[in-house]
Amino acid sequence: MERVYLDNSATSFPKPESVKQAVMRYFEFGAGNPGRTASEDALAMERSIYNTRLALANFFHFDAPDHVIFTKNITEAINLVLFSVLKNGDRVIVSEIEHNAVLRPLEVLKEKRGIEVIEIPLDEDGVHLDAERLDAALKTKPRLMALSCASNVSGDVLALKEAAEAAKNHGVPILLDTAQAAGVTDIDFKALGVAFLAFTGHKSLLGPQGIGGLLIDPKRTEILDPLIYGGTGSYSELLTQPTIMPDRFESGTGNLLGILGLEASLGTLREKGIETIASHERHLIRELEKPFEDDHRVKLLNRVPASKRVGVLSIDFKERDNAVAAHLLAREFGIVTRVGLHCAPAAHKAFGTYPKGTVRFSVSPYTTIKEIEYTAQSIKKLLTSDF
Ligand SMILES: Cc1ncc(COP(=O)(O)O)c(C=O)c1O
Repeated sequence: MERVYLDNSATSFPKPESVKQAVMRYFEFGAGNPGRTASEDALAMERSIYNTRLALANFFHFDAPDHVIFTKNITEAINLVLFSVLKNGDRVIVSEIEHNAVLRPLEVLKEKRGIEVIEIPLDEDGVHLDAERLDAALKTKPRLMALSCASNVSGDVLALKEAAEAAKNHGVPILLDTAQAAGVTDIDFKALGVAFLAFTGHKSLLGPQGIGGLLIDPKRTEILDPLIYGGTGSYSELLTQPTIMPDRFESGTGNLLGILGLEASLGTLREKGIETIASHERHLIRELEKPFEDDHRVKLLNRVPASKRVGVLSIDFKERDNAVAAHLLAREFGIVTRVGLHCAPAAHKAFGTYPKGTVRFSVSPYTTIKEIEYTAQSIKKLLTSDF
């Protein structure tokens, strides 16, 4: 039986060969702790860490590589911002497609600091925030607007330019969650005027798991508190946390394997080209959804055309339990998907698929049209058989 991996929104697989090789470098030349050990090898690793910050800054059109900080994933980066910025009684705006990486910390802050979360629905076009509701919310002087660039449930890509413009007019800083969009859409920190941009390495950035981070507008560094404090290899005579960047936010030994892998995956993304990757993925998703568009046995979450989504198709199998459908796809056809609410209950409520959830198919630059044709045939067999 073939194995077709279509859970790239959870984590991309396979990784580029360049990532594998870069990670292996650690095992050959990883003697020493960057920022601590003064050996040639450790200094070379330090240069790679800096080059990765630089590559991320270039990738997101950001001018301050020393304000690119590493965390273990995007969830940690988002927590860092939310717990620093939101004080007692503050308001925060979110969209209706946010992930639990945003919603759960906010729930804690509701309880502990009495913050108010204002959720803005999307327009009927599925990509713009409802302008009237957004305007009214912005007038309440919220402390922050936290937005996901793309839904991990439907693949819909938010109209960020308009949302950012509206926030700017009211002087409200934006935190961007780029988990599903980085590597498949061009995200411009400068043009959007973002305050904080959080990323995760292991999804569409094609890097290893356990590495993520945050780009911080240098004007806003002061308002952020580190999540953890400790040794940085710098200013060891001080008992207080160094204020220089990026040390302020990077206590303890970092994930060198993750950083080396991410440096390599960013190189591969650059070589392949984001637009080429995006059009490949859109084509695959279009081919996957086409045969089922008029099929009453399934509901497709495709209110936005595939040409405007990232590489995701969510299907609700109306005549079957979705968990059983996903299990059968794996057992009978070797197709790996993700079923359920995808850590995004609010999005499923908006799409009318809560609490049942959907079966999500998500592709990568390495998914082939043959795999997609096989998947479409397998779904058809699943719909007509009584396994
Ligand atoms: C939109 C979005 N934000 C945040 C996350 C959390 O990512 P991580 O587990 O890498 O922190 C995910 C993961 O599915 C996601 O899709």
